[in-house]
Amino acid sequence: MTQSYRSIALVGAGGKMGMRISANLARSDFNVHYCENAPEGQRRVRDTGRAVSAIDDVIADCDLLILAVPDIVLGKVSGALVPQMKAGATVLTLDPAAAYANLLFPREDIHYAVAHPCHPSVFLERYTREEHADAFGGVAATQSVAAAFESGSDAEKAALEAVIRVMYAPVDDVHWITVTQLAYLEPTLVETVTCMLGTFMKEALDETVARTGVPQKAAEAMLYGHIQIALAVAFRSTNPFSDACMIAIDYGRENILRDDWKKIFEQSELDKVIARMLKIDRVRRDESGLASAK
Ligand SMILES: NC(=O)c1ccc[n+]([C@@H]2O[C@H](COP(=O)([O-])OP(=O)(O)OC[C@H]3O[C@@H](n4cnc5c(N)ncnc54)[C@H](O)[C@@H]3O)[C@@H](O)[C@H]2O)c1
Repeated sequence: MTQSYRSIALVGAGGKMGMRISANLARSDFNVHYCENAPEGQRRVRDTGRAVSAIDDVIADCDLLILAVPDIVLGKVSGALVPQMKAGATVLTLDPAAAYANLLFPREDIHYAVAHPCHPSVFLERYTREEHADAFGGVAATQSVAAAFESGSDAEKAALEAVIRVMYAPVDDVHWITVTQLAYLEPTLVETVTCMLGTFMKEALDETVARTGVPQKAAEAMLYGHIQIALAVAFRSTNPFSDACMIAIDYGRENILRDDWKKIFEQSELDKVIARMLKIDRVRRDESGLASAK
């Protein structure tokens, strides 16, 4: 692999992530080919002033292939494109699920990496309107990135990190971990637990308003402030929860959480949720018994 990517192909450039990372890559010196097969996606790319390239024209020469297509088609898309790539090139996916499940077309002479945005922290000190408005990251609010490049040397990781820092800019830290560790972060920690709790809190808000007659605005004010203070106390120990609050927390855990909830950190459970997300029967494992990118 070259120490700096001469030619980058981005597939799925007209999708949600494709459009976000294209906007940042287009401002850099990297030579990027924006590829998109859906007419609607192509229109979105062209509306920004970027040209749409045919992947078949650029795949053989690209050093880095970024696959910003839905995870459920990554097996098919990588199967069509990876055989056409030159030896030593790198395939970058934006979510660990397909790499974890060994769905990506395997080639010994190709590198595989994953880079997922962490999104701006709830504790980020934001100063401008743009930073406050940037909930997702990649525009104005600084975020970190969790990435895996298990076959990459330090120099190869540094070359990829230069691209990752542009794609998700502004970026604070790039955390290099394994594909399996990345899968424990997403889905397990941040989707199975955290996004579930976000939707759960919204459901609790709706239930409060529907059942008790508390005005929506009053319930929202109380909830949003308490989300903030609950996170500050639990994660930052800004001040202790009150004794009465601790009793209510225990009551909530007894009535809402299952005793065995930590089983979600067992690898067999990780396999189940990833198989469900990828709409496959089961996760395939390599000869070492690990489900990981080759
Ligand atoms: N959406 C998010 O918030 C988010 C966040 C982090 C990571 N990701 C990851 O980013 C990747 C893309 O997700 P997304 O939400 O942007 O998907 P999306 O559905 O918004 O966009 C996918 C794009 O790929 C195109 N596409 C589909 N099949 C194609 C093919 N065979 N060839 C070329 N283009 C094709 C589609 O037309 C579409 O424009 C996934 O791996 C996802 O897990 C998404």
